[in-house]
Amino acid sequence: MSIAVVGSGIAGLYAALCAAEQHTPVLLVSKSALQHSSTWRAQGGIAAVMESSSGDTPASHCEDTLSAGAWTGNRAAATVLCREAGAHIRRLQKLGTTFDANPDGSPALAREAAHTARRILHIGGDATGAGIAAALMAAVRPHPRITILENAFAVRVVLTGGSVSGLEVLTEGRGQRLAVDAVVLATGGAGELYRHTTNPAGSTGDGIALARRAGAATRDEEFFQFHPTALAVPGTPLISEAVRGEGAVLRDSRGGRFMTGYHRDAELAPRDVVSRSIVRHLAATGEGTGEGAGEDTGEGTVWLDATGVARRRGPGFLASRFPGLAEVTAAHGFDWERELLPVVPAAHYWMGGIATDLSGRTSVPGLYAAGEAACTGVHGANRLASNSLLEGLVFGARAAAACTAPDAGRAWDAGTPAGLWAGIRRVPEAAGTPCSGTASSPSSQHALEAPSGTQPFGRTALQSLMWEKAGVLRSAAGLREAAGVLDGALPVLPGREGHIRALEDANLLTCARLVVGAALRRSVSIGAHFRTDAPQGVPGTPAAPAIHRPGTVPLPE
Ligand code: SIN
Repeated sequence: MSIAVVGSGIAGLYAALCAAEQHTPVLLVSKSALQHSSTWRAQGGIAAVMESSSGDTPASHCEDTLSAGAWTGNRAAATVLCREAGAHIRRLQKLGTTFDANPDGSPALAREAAHTARRILHIGGDATGAGIAAALMAAVRPHPRITILENAFAVRVVLTGGSVSGLEVLTEGRGQRLAVDAVVLATGGAGELYRHTTNPAGSTGDGIALARRAGAATRDEEFFQFHPTALAVPGTPLISEAVRGEGAVLRDSRGGRFMTGYHRDAELAPRDVVSRSIVRHLAATGEGTGEGAGEDTGEGTVWLDATGVARRRGPGFLASRFPGLAEVTAAHGFDWERELLPVVPAAHYWMGGIATDLSGRTSVPGLYAAGEAACTGVHGANRLASNSLLEGLVFGARAAAACTAPDAGRAWDAGTPAGLWAGIRRVPEAAGTPCSGTASSPSSQHALEAPSGTQPFGRTALQSLMWEKAGVLRSAAGLREAAGVLDGALPVLPGREGHIRALEDANLLTCARLVVGAALRRSVSIGAHFRTDAPQGVPGTPAAPAIHRPGTVPLPE
């Protein structure tokens, strides 16, 4: 038995390690160097209730997770996430991860939006993801049962008799078929769909597109989270929510603290609420024209004011609590102890993805998914801050346990509401489709599901379209317009030397169709999916199951 894990963020690294510890040979496939993942950028921290967290409980963490998700999340998944957190944090500590501590040795816990308690563990102030990833990489690299394939781009899951039997990858422009019994997709999200994103450039939805091509079901694609406070400079670096957790507030260009007028928790309201309020406030104050937000909204920025924090906590506090952010803000010419930072919402995290059960099983036997690429429904319509690193750990470990278990070839069909999988149709496998070394060959176009009769479409155009028509605010008219454009779009396939970017573009196009199609179909606003032409869903009313049949890109007429 051997498995391939695709992706080198926290979910991929941890799944690889856990599977290898079950005596299973693992191929860890990464499309670039291992450290080029969203995990490395994660600042704020990892939410977890430990035994030492007095007055807080996993149950309370679970309620906060469901509440931030507009009560649309999967309670069983949230319970698993919060209950199993402590064990995996202890495991990380054994692997050498050192979380920040108070002078008395107790964990230094941060507060973030929509958490009812301080329960965010962090490393190096604001370098949590890098700290965890470094420890995991140090464990994975020398592991005798883990073979690392860097700069290897996964292009196709090979199926035999409907079950996974291999993975095709491109390395240095050449195709290679890896014979494995199971594949775990841990490829992260698709922030590159949008003009402004906090994600690294490699977040191109590769695993989700790969899973679709293998016939796996996906779900909840309309739920895309926009982080409210990305610095309004090229590259939109994230300014962690933990800064607001320390007391920073949002102001408009007149200096007014506007969030108090939008939600009782003001700047610490759930992320979707804060992003939407920013966009609406800009539009209401006539400062916008569409930039930074989506449909019917204005461009412009609001301002993050951390000067009060600096005054209250003393000079040097911000730099010692957030050393990375102090560097980033200074590099862009801001003195955040004394001046306000211009911020905008930016695409941050995709709640939707490959539909899985709580053990990472997809609808295809032998195909597993974990982390941001997967959708257990744990986040519902909006993810709670600092639950993403935790998700990678908990569900990465569970996927590893499931795919190394004796019944590993089983697709998930138990424990789901009756009929959930009914009507799901597998994509007939492209029999004999070779793994092409050049993206422009007909076979590789086939593998990418490029529709015939389509028009070339570049990434920048795609990002603008998605930003403007499927951003923080959407409407049926805008989404229909986007659907029309996407329907006729074909990714530009440049020369051989540029083919990885072209393959990513094709994956992005698949993901864009999924987001737009799902956003059109859900005509009620809920969580991060806000339709300006549709009523807000009633909190507490679960979103209808939104599992999508693979094989077709579900765009309405
Ligand atoms: C942040 O630090 O604000 C981001 C953390 C997260 O996305 O959960």
